[in-house]
Amino acid sequence: MKAVSLKEYTGAQLRQLCHAIGLGDRAEEVCDLVADLLGPAAVRSVDEPPLWRSDVADDHTPIEYSVAFEEDGSHTLRLLIECVAAKPSPRANQLAALAALDRLAARYPVTLDRFDAVRDLFLPDEPRGIFSLWFSIVVRRDDPPRVKIYFNPEVRGKAKANTLVAAALDRLGFAGSYAWLREHTPRPESTLDRYSFFALDLDDTPRSRVKVYQSHYRATLRDAQHAAGAGRSVDTRRLAEFGTLIGGGDGPFDGRPLVSAFTFLSGDSAQPSGYSLYVPVRDYVRDDAVTMQRVRLLVERYGLDRDALERSVTAVTDRPLEEGVGLIAHVSLRIGPPRPGVTVYLSAEAYGVARPSGAHTGAA
Ligand code: TRP
Repeated sequence: MKAVSLKEYTGAQLRQLCHAIGLGDRAEEVCDLVADLLGPAAVRSVDEPPLWRSDVADDHTPIEYSVAFEEDGSHTLRLLIECVAAKPSPRANQLAALAALDRLAARYPVTLDRFDAVRDLFLPDEPRGIFSLWFSIVVRRDDPPRVKIYFNPEVRGKAKANTLVAAALDRLGFAGSYAWLREHTPRPESTLDRYSFFALDLDDTPRSRVKVYQSHYRATLRDAQHAAGAGRSVDTRRLAEFGTLIGGGDGPFDGRPLVSAFTFLSGDSAQPSGYSLYVPVRDYVRDDAVTMQRVRLLVERYGLDRDALERSVTAVTDRPLEEGVGLIAHVSLRIGPPRPGVTVYLSAEAYGVARPSGAHTGAA
């Protein structure tokens, strides 16, 4: 096969994915944007090793796709992207991301007030940890693309993550929220529940969110329900149902961790207004065909658009689903405002496909 660049490879997937979910007229814009953000990584052949061992995806492709199936029948495309510098290092990638942010701000509705309020916390000159700044691009039918950024709470080392999250929430006007999170941390005296991302929507609308993510190692669905807050009983029952179906049981999940995301909207007091649970399903199945069966059931149960799901998967790959595991990396359920729904995370698999494994536990 002719060697293709990462830009061509992801471009083909993105065009098909946009068409699959009714965003066809956005396709070229999305491809250009992605090529710009991927920077020097975009022009390398996918036959060469990745320029940087990005944690965005298991095979180190610096982009991951996701499709959110909304209850009103519309779909949202989201792209998680790491900017990789020509000579990558944690610091060089951070600077590449900041340069990319300037370019995004020139083209799209980006408001940097909240970013500026916390940047000194999360962007030290010598970043540690697995990344320092990731982007998410959110594409809907009738809107210009929206930009979201992810900071790494462990960027100053694991021991400082809690302090960083507390300080950032405080600066953003969510006084009391850190105490709420602490109360809802399933195992607060251990290191099993760790802040993994601190995210900001950069658009300036009432729906614009601050999201705090916590990874729960070796957790059960009960732990996730505790994190979500006991108050919303219908929703917490839904969480367990979702987790059992997608995760194949109620845990403990000993492979990759369950992840909670807490959504804060301006005006929220201590308690977040939204909660999402992410199940890293690839560690709890033999192969993607099994995952797909579970997701089909879920989508049917919730009355979501099954055809769009099928089209999304075939947009990204034509390999038989039982020949690999991890095409579908996560499945998440959002409960509470602003938007309830299911999101399916699709890997580009530009650099490799993980082989199915009967005994796969994700301990690697
Ligand atoms: N690949 C990483 C992981 O699986 C980061 C990541 C990408 C992630 N997409 C995600 C984490 C969705 C949680 C949810 O941990």
